[in-house]
Amino acid sequence: MNLTELNRVAEAMVTPGRGILAADESSSTIKKRFDTIGVESTPDTRRDYRELLFRSSEAMSKHISGVILYDETIRQNAKDGTPLVKLIEQAGSLPGIKVDKGTKPLPFCPSEVITEGLDGLRERLVEYRALGAKFAKWRAVIDIGAGIPSYTCIRANAHALARYAALCQDEGIVPIVEPEVLMDGDHDAERCYSVTEWVLKTVYEDLYYQRVALEGTVLKPNMVVPGKKSQKRASVDQVAEMTARVLRACVPAAVPGIAFLSGGQSDEDATAHLDAINRIGGLPWRVTFSYGRALQAAPQKAWSGRSENVAAAQRAFSHRARMNGLATLGQWKADLERKAA
Ligand code: 13P
Repeated sequence: MNLTELNRVAEAMVTPGRGILAADESSSTIKKRFDTIGVESTPDTRRDYRELLFRSSEAMSKHISGVILYDETIRQNAKDGTPLVKLIEQAGSLPGIKVDKGTKPLPFCPSEVITEGLDGLRERLVEYRALGAKFAKWRAVIDIGAGIPSYTCIRANAHALARYAALCQDEGIVPIVEPEVLMDGDHDAERCYSVTEWVLKTVYEDLYYQRVALEGTVLKPNMVVPGKKSQKRASVDQVAEMTARVLRACVPAAVPGIAFLSGGQSDEDATAHLDAINRIGGLPWRVTFSYGRALQAAPQKAWSGRSENVAAAQRAFSHRARMNGLATLGQWKADLERKAA
């Protein structure tokens, strides 16, 4: 393992002012997104859409440090024949790849899931590395509800994340470690805090037992927010304070950076929360974004599958990327959103 090189890539992924574009929707997830804008999901429409994002030179060169791709996309060429990976590299951004194979029901644990994809992972990493991937992503999913999560679910998912991370580092790829506590339930922020704490403590224990070098990793956690169906809302400052507190309690300072998922928050909430966390200051890691929906909802809507809308979609993407870039520095202001609207 070349830890110097892994650390260099991890640091580049969390460069201040920049963050990660999660464009790794599986074919079934991107179909759901396209359904909402009335676009048929085909290899060509998926290529056209992602090409427009990667050719948004303003966003890509100034605010996007890396892009997480899906297996289909890392192999695709732009309309003019240039590999999409090359477009990302030419913009000065790093290509990455989602390597988990999604979730399956966890035996004897009703309503809980385990992320699969360890079998054959080393061989896939070797291939992805040859295709240009510098980092990878694996997402574990933890749901909160009556009697869940279970010890079984947290242990099994943390173990899989750690096995994945060790394989990545052994093949010279930086693992993004993503244990996502979902915000789907009716729980309050305090419950999200305690589950997130349990999950993160377990994940770092398993990373240690699998001999993962934290200096060559990036953590992609959820923020501490109330469930979508909770009556008890939390202010931006409360979310920021609780999120920073749980991360300080659980994430070793050797980790170069934390890149949040957006998890179904609105675009503006995701930006405001990231900004408020960075305003707290004095955190031992870089704190940035690795957003899917919160970066792509606006450009998807602006594009709606029409080539005449490409420039408008690129403007929408650049705007969100710039807002989140400012939030990594604690310099975002709600006024900037209104001026752009
Ligand atoms: P969201 O920001 O839409 O939650 O997606 C991030 C991601 O990569 C989830 O795995």
